[in-house]
Amino acid sequence: MKFVPSDRLLPGMISLKSIYNRRGTCLLTANHVLTHPIISQLCKQDYPGVFVYDEFPELARSYPDFGENWRISEVKAKHILNVDRVIYFATSVVESILHMEDKLLDMLELKEHNHDIYTHSVNVAMISTVCGIGMGLSDERLKELATTAMLHDIGKMAIPDEILNKPGKLNEDEMELMKSHSQLGATILNQTTAVTDEMKKSILMHHENYDGSGYPTGAKGDEIPLYARIIHVADVYDAMIQKRSYKKPFNPLEVIEYLMGNAGIMFDIEVLYSFLQYLIIYPVGTTVTLSDGRQARVVKNRPNQALRPVVMLKETREELDLAKDRSCYNITVVGGDCVFHEGDGLEPIGPTGRAG
Ligand SMILES: [Fe+2]
Repeated sequence: MKFVPSDRLLPGMISLKSIYNRRGTCLLTANHVLTHPIISQLCKQDYPGVFVYDEFPELARSYPDFGENWRISEVKAKHILNVDRVIYFATSVVESILHMEDKLLDMLELKEHNHDIYTHSVNVAMISTVCGIGMGLSDERLKELATTAMLHDIGKMAIPDEILNKPGKLNEDEMELMKSHSQLGATILNQTTAVTDEMKKSILMHHENYDGSGYPTGAKGDEIPLYARIIHVADVYDAMIQKRSYKKPFNPLEVIEYLMGNAGIMFDIEVLYSFLQYLIIYPVGTTVTLSDGRQARVVKNRPNQALRPVVMLKETREELDLAKDRSCYNITVVGGDCVFHEGDGLEPIGPTGRAG
């Protein structure tokens, strides 16, 4: 089974699970053969993608399966907190990532999956897990970290929807109430023994800054538990790359500059370094501009080389390894689109007509 984003679906693929729109209407039943009209309907409705039987391995990208009914909003609507279920999903996150070959964080994939089912919490759990792997955490610790990350904003269950979904800026009182979600989260979890004290404390402190300027306690440095320090980076990163009702997504370089600019201020430097080594800024297939002005397409990424991927030049189709080729030491990527456009002189990869 694989998750395929809507714009990479092909007629003939078979849906594995039913999918629903935000109102709960069934858009597609399980075991249905996809057709052009269905695919274009899904794209039109901005639906992120479909779980399909794995008959097109060249198209499928590694992405964990968290089960079809998992939705934070569902938990919220029922006011039920099933910690065992969260632990189960967090474990799937960790195990899926441990099985991924390169563990690189593909910004585009995180964006594509930010929907009801694939919420911010799942993204934060994935980013935190990769970061934790980079810091050498044991599998057991990774599962705790991922569970904590999935639960980090659970206190928002207790914040009124009008405030959570307010399109404009929050006033001072609303902001104070919003900030109380980390304390509320810890209070909610105090009712369960399924999570450890360290996990509860991490949820309480996921908005603390490394220099002590965060909230709610103003703790600094190592007073903030490691899980909280990791989740803080993952949380801010994911919030910056997502489009919100009140802001556009930041571009990748702006995000990195912001994170680096806050190393040692908001963020633990060691955590940040671990995160950045796995970050992909320009996913495979992205059309990029090199610092010498040439246009190219990314064909491979490697850990620690976010601005020096392997690229194919648009004009000559020559492949350049910006990290290894001696002639390229002065060349980096200075900009790029996150989507490959047909007709730019490069052959699309794969039968979708899109690189991927
Ligand atoms: Fe939060």
